[in-house]
Amino acid sequence: MTSTPHIDPKGVDIAETILLPGDPLRAKFIAETYFDDIRCFNEVRNMLGFTGTYQGRPVSVMGTGMGIPSISLYSYELIHHFGVKNLIRVGTCGAMQENMELYDVVIAQGASTDSNYLQQFDLPGQWAPLSSYRLLEKAKRVADERGQRTHVGNVLSSDVFYGADPDALGRWMKMGILAVEMESAGLFANAAAAGVDALGIFTVSDKIGSDVKTTPEERQTAFTAMIEIALDLA
Ligand code: ADE
Repeated sequence: MTSTPHIDPKGVDIAETILLPGDPLRAKFIAETYFDDIRCFNEVRNMLGFTGTYQGRPVSVMGTGMGIPSISLYSYELIHHFGVKNLIRVGTCGAMQENMELYDVVIAQGASTDSNYLQQFDLPGQWAPLSSYRLLEKAKRVADERGQRTHVGNVLSSDVFYGADPDALGRWMKMGILAVEMESAGLFANAAAAGVDALGIFTVSDKIGSDVKTTPEERQTAFTAMIEIALDLA
């Protein structure tokens, strides 16, 4: 397959390991900051994708847009049409537990969701979307070696950013959900259905119920730690 409805690599390879930030300009920044031998593999809808090498190993990065529908269609095409095997979402999350601080790193062991995306798999019960233990274990080890504060556990992939029910997140918090984001459950489901590996690594950009603001410098430092952990998985 040379191209799909949303990805037209024009002959540029896509690596087996890909980092997936939501923002395509973040993808460009990651490629320009960390990769050697950079080639752009996608410009369709400005959802920029790049392939290069990191410490001599091939790696790609591509924006996914926001929300489960968007990451699901890109991850589906990457897995089924371009042979991608390790899909690592990198992004921000809203922390939901007391012991969490801004800029902590969250590694998603699982992703609960209020989305209906999982219905399509027609399972006779509730299925728990999990990340790849192989990637999770390595990411945790790399983070520990860097002295990075991490939280590993269940995140909420929510379809709702501006919610009508002010108590909804509280009910998820009581079930031990660490943080809210908007994509991982779709990514983990697609990966599991195809037998490939996926992981989500996040920096805490906000705390639910608090209005503490972060500075661009602080965000950049935290972002760098998360990306370097993810790149070590390549
Ligand atoms: N990503 C970062 N913060 C978030 C929040 N509060 N809700 C959903 N996604 C997020």
